[in-house]
Formats: sequence, C-alpha cells, structure tokens
Amino acid sequence: MNVREEFIKYFTKNGHKQIPSSPIVPENDPTVLFNTAGMQPLVPYLMGEEHPYGKRLCDYQKCVRLTDLDEIGDKTHHTFFEMLGNWSLGDYFKKESIGYSFEFLTKVLNIPVERLAITVFAGDEKIPRDEVSAGYWKEKGISEDRIAYLGKDDNFWIAGDSGPCGCDTEIFYFRSDDEIPAKFDPSDERWVEIWNNVFMEFYQDENGNISELKQKNVDTGMGLERIVAVLEGVDDNYKSSIWSDVINKLEVITGLSYEGNEKAMRIIVDHIRTSVFIAADPASIKPSNTDQGYILRRLIRRYIRQARKLGIDINSDFDEQIALLIISKYEKYYSELSCNKEVVLDVLSNEKKKFSRTLEKGLREFEKLVDLNAKVIDKNIAFKLYDTYGFPIELTIEEAKDRGMSVDVDGFYERFREHQEKSRTASKGKFKGGLSGNSEMETKYHTATHLLNAALKKVIGSDVHQLGSNITPERLRFDFPCDHKMTDEEKKMVEDLVNEWIKEDLPVERLEMSKDEALRSGAECTFIEKYPDVVTVYKIGDVSKELCGGPHVSHTSLLGHFKIKKEESSSAGVRRIKAILE
Ligand code: SER
Repeated sequence: MNVREEFIKYFTKNGHKQIPSSPIVPENDPTVLFNTAGMQPLVPYLMGEEHPYGKRLCDYQKCVRLTDLDEIGDKTHHTFFEMLGNWSLGDYFKKESIGYSFEFLTKVLNIPVERLAITVFAGDEKIPRDEVSAGYWKEKGISEDRIAYLGKDDNFWIAGDSGPCGCDTEIFYFRSDDEIPAKFDPSDERWVEIWNNVFMEFYQDENGNISELKQKNVDTGMGLERIVAVLEGVDDNYKSSIWSDVINKLEVITGLSYEGNEKAMRIIVDHIRTSVFIAADPASIKPSNTDQGYILRRLIRRYIRQARKLGIDINSDFDEQIALLIISKYEKYYSELSCNKEVVLDVLSNEKKKFSRTLEKGLREFEKLVDLNAKVIDKNIAFKLYDTYGFPIELTIEEAKDRGMSVDVDGFYERFREHQEKSRTASKGKFKGGLSGNSEMETKYHTATHLLNAALKKVIGSDVHQLGSNITPERLRFDFPCDHKMTDEEKKMVEDLVNEWIKEDLPVERLEMSKDEALRSGAECTFIEKYPDVVTVYKIGDVSKELCGGPHVSHTSLLGHFKIKKEESSSAGVRRIKAILE
C-alpha cells in the first residue's frame, strides 16, 4: 500500500485540498534554517489569514530536523523526513479531527482498534483537562484503559517558544508480537507514537503569555517513515520499503552486508538523502560556512567520513549512485529533484573533491605526526593538524578513538587561545579573511551588515539581532525583529551612525576562539548550534563583535558611503532593510 497516496486520497475525498509541499528552506521565515514540521509554512493561516486553497488542507511536507544529529545511526532517526498532515483552518475541530484519524487508521490502513492507544492533555492551572477529546475517542471504541492523560511536556504542542499552539492528542500503535496489555502505559516502548493531532486555539508570545487565536484550528502530523515501518512490521525504519533498496544498493557498492554495519550505512543513506533534498531546493543552497550551506557541508563531510570507515573509495561515485536512486524514488512527488538533478550531483562531487583533499592530506600528516604508541595525542600535534592541515579537531578525536587513543582536547584549546592572541596582534591593520568565492563588493557588504546590525541596536533597541541576511555584489539585505515601520528619522540616524563609523576607519579584527569562549565574551551570534567548536569572531573597533565566517574588509574606511534603499515588512514582527554602498 502507498500510504502517502492513500492519505491524500482519503483527505481530499473528505473535502480537503492538497497543497504542494513548501521548500525545505522556509521562504518567509528567517528565524529557522529549515521547515521542521508540516505546519510551519502555514503559520500565517493558523493565525487567521485566509488560505487561497480554503479551510481544509492536506499535504506531505519535506522536513529537516537537526536536533537529533547525534542520534542518526540508530533505527528510527532521520535528518530529513516527510510529514503527512491535514489541517482545519477555523473549520472543524476535535470531533471531526479524531473521527478522520480513527477512520483513516482503522478503515484505510486496516489497523485493528486493539493495537491503538491514545494520550490527551491532563490539564494545568490555565487550560482544563481535555475530557472532550477523550470522550470522542471513547465514542470510537477506545477503552478508558487505553487513554492516558499527560502533562504539558507531552500533550501540548508548539514549534519553538512562541507561536500558534494548543493541546494535542497523540495516537500510539502497539508494535510487538507480545500480547497487547489491556492498560496502556505510554512509557512502554512497545507503544510507538504514530500521529499527532494538535488543537491549535492559542497563541503563546515570547514571554509565555497565552491568548486565544482568532479561530480554532486543527494541525495534524504523521511521520511517513514511521507509519510505513509500522505497517510493514519492521522495527528498523531502514528495513522498510522507503530504504531497503537504497541499503541494498549500498551493500552492492561496498560488498558488505547491512548486518554488522548498520550505523555507518544508516548515516550514509540518511545524509545523502538530506543533502539531495537541500541541494535541490529552490533556495539554491551550496556548501559553505554559514547557515543552510554549513549544514549541507557538514552532512556531506559526515557521510564521506562514514564511507571511508566502510572502506569505500571516497573518490568513487558511490554517493552519486545513491543520490540517483533517491532522486528516481522521489521525483514523482518532488519535481525539483529531476529539474535540479545535475545541480545536486555537482554539489555532491565538488564538495567531495574539496573535502577529500583536506582529508587525505590531514590523514597522511596524522600518521606521520602521531606517535601510535602513545595513549594521548599531544596538544601541539592536534593543533598543528588543525592549523596547518585544516584537519578538524572532531576528526582528530575520531581517528584517535579508532586507534584506542585519546586527545588532549583542553590543551588543544589552550594552544588555540594562544594562537588567537597572536592573530589579534597580527590582524591589526592587516586583512586576514579568506576572500575566495566572494567579490570585493560582497566582502564590503559583509562588514557593512555588521555595522548596520550595531547601529540598529542603538537606534531601535538592544534586542535587535540578525534573523536573516543576504548579500549580492549589488546590495545587502538584513532582517531583524522590530514591531514597527521605521520612521524617516530612525533610518537617517542608522545611516549617520554607520557612516560615522566608516569615517572613523575602525580596524576589523578576525579572532578565533572556542564557541563557549565566544559566547562568554558577549559576541553576537545567530543559530549557535550550527557552529563548530572553534569559531571565528569579527570585531570592529568597539562597535561590533559577531560570530561570522567572514570575509571582511580590514578597516571600515574602505566601505564608501552607506545608504538605506528600502525598509519594509518581511513577516509579522520582522522588518527588512536593503542597503547599498556608494
Ligand atoms: N505540528 C505537530 C507536529 O509536528 C502536528 O503536525 O507534531
């Protein structure tokens, strides 16, 4: 059975319009790198805006979640996954939503009622216990014993800290050949959650205050990978039909069997699939050291390292073969995969070439420098591998581990700080950024962006920070939180401040330090979790200090004259400035 197609068929039959999956890189929400749930592109409509397709929607949405990156390699986690969802935008509510889910599971997917159990919200001081949902489940034939009442951590759903939200009811499936216990215990791992129905009737602001939304919505989400595995009776998602042919292909390429090599194989296929979807996205992401590009680079480099571990010749086209198979499996549902096939293959092979040069050189030096009889890799060697050969400290740690050794990581950071001291002195008045891939103008705009951010903090308020940035040789674009349209005076003050700093010819210094140290020193940073342990911080006089990959000019007088061309709304509570250097 094709669950995806059955799902769409069932909900369209019940008055829902199928909407296309949004790109994985959100189009209008600079606060997140990727869509992480089916509801994310629908936030304005959950808040009350009218959706062009009406009040009943369904889709399958591409999602990327990176919070579990370290868990990839187990049976159930993925960096990319698809979420099946149906929505009511101020139309039906709990009764119909529960009715649809129940009917789809028991009549279309033919899941026996005895295999199902439910959780509902137990209530707290603000929101009452959800007896209404529990009542509808009982009407459907779910026994009292199979309904568990849980608190806010389990049965209240919100994406992040603020936004539309509400209590939810989760549907569990008993995945085991054991006798099904009469009483449902949600902590018993034989019960797996398969579907989440959120009743979005509230809005939570940044301070945790809850108010009622204009309309009562339903937002449901069912992970496709999980439901397919459940229906096919496998407890390892990678053994389901979504993955089995991909794993088989990898077995053929490596000559190895999946059994015994599960972890590396899962990471390889998972990361290739995610890289394919990111590279094919309309946002045209390329591997880089910032934002989505950094994630793409990290995924590609991680699967290459795993491939090496399996003995694959990393300069072969192993990943392209896997990518082509993935494209052929998904192109029917996502046309961007066939349209951008060549782009995807180029992205993978170019990044692989770059990384394999670093890797091979670093490994050769590793073998030469490291005394294999020692138990611990000395800090100076770890630092030399990093500094001279670009070998990341994570790789040194991994390579050491494979040889039963450890690394003097504290010592490494100590050396690192000494180096940073030196570069601080050396960079005074001297440009130290790498300019590759960036034109002179783009470099200037990078520096101007830091000045703009600092000026906005002074004029609008200290909570201004970067929500999104985009630079071309022609202009900079900067998104930041602000609850009003900027006045002409405010714009003028920002321009004047930036131009003053340009005239003062402030030095731009490049510092390297550990991530923790950077944060402690008060350096500004967006998306901290995506940065490596060792980061670059750019300091402009005493005006600005930000984590950033650069490049930047060496001193501010090189920038010319700064001018705001446009100030407009980007999304609710977010303003966008476009500015030029003349
Ligand atoms: N937003 C909910 C989730 O992601 C239901 O779609 O689980």
